[in-house]
Amino acid sequence: MRVVVSIGGSVLAPDLDPDRVAAHADALERLAADGCELGVVVGGGGIAREYIGAARELGANEVQLDRLGIGTTRLNARLLIAALGERATLSPAEEYDEAAAALRRGEVSIMGGVMPGQTTDAVAAAFAEAVDADLLVYATSADGVYDADPNVHDDASQYAEMTPSELVDIVLPMSRNAGASAPVDLLAAKLIDRAGIRSVVLDGTDPAVLVDAVLRGEHTGTDVVPDGAGEPSDWTGER
Ligand code: UTP
Repeated sequence: MRVVVSIGGSVLAPDLDPDRVAAHADALERLAADGCELGVVVGGGGIAREYIGAARELGANEVQLDRLGIGTTRLNARLLIAALGERATLSPAEEYDEAAAALRRGEVSIMGGVMPGQTTDAVAAAFAEAVDADLLVYATSADGVYDADPNVHDDASQYAEMTPSELVDIVLPMSRNAGASAPVDLLAAKLIDRAGIRSVVLDGTDPAVLVDAVLRGEHTGTDVVPDGAGEPSDWTGER
């Protein structure tokens, strides 16, 4: 099974704890050992926000801020590369073809951000689309997609399953509302919808959750399932 995993910076490195990074690397190694072809996109998290905040006060424009953010995603990606050792690409790929080529060579193919004006949510969706991934997993700090922001609305309820177009409909109003935190950004949702990519949004804090979600489709987050899509053959034993 070909899988692209997006690991938020706030999940991989909320602080610089080598044990935490090693635990995420172990989970990825489990998946690779089980035969998964793996692409991984790493986010910037708190360190991105710190750099962006400081540079904003210094008068940097949005593109400059995004370039700082991209730099931090690649720093975090290098932490994961350090933990994965020879299984991983030597450095974070800066283009999709480069990342796809690494996947073909059998490496765990790691990327950070790519270009200003988006987040790594969209990078992960585009990577998944570029390599015809069977599954795209967002290992985030949110435990799925809700019908309203659960940090604001106590009665917000989580979707167990939804279609990509429903995901676009949920994320669209959030993208207009500054400060609202969408589980994945609008561009990512549109790419998932356009390409019909089976996706999962889950709380990635515990790396073991990723293993169960990828190998067995078992998790407590949200499945985003295109109309008419079957389950990956690995889950149904048809391999
Ligand atoms: P992230 O994808 O990490 O954003 O990119 P995030 O929403 O903070 O996600 P978490 O916390 O890691 O889960 C960090 C910043 O890097 C820039 C943007 O400024 C983004 O806010 N970036 C990232 C880009 O400009 N382009 C990219 O392709 C990726």
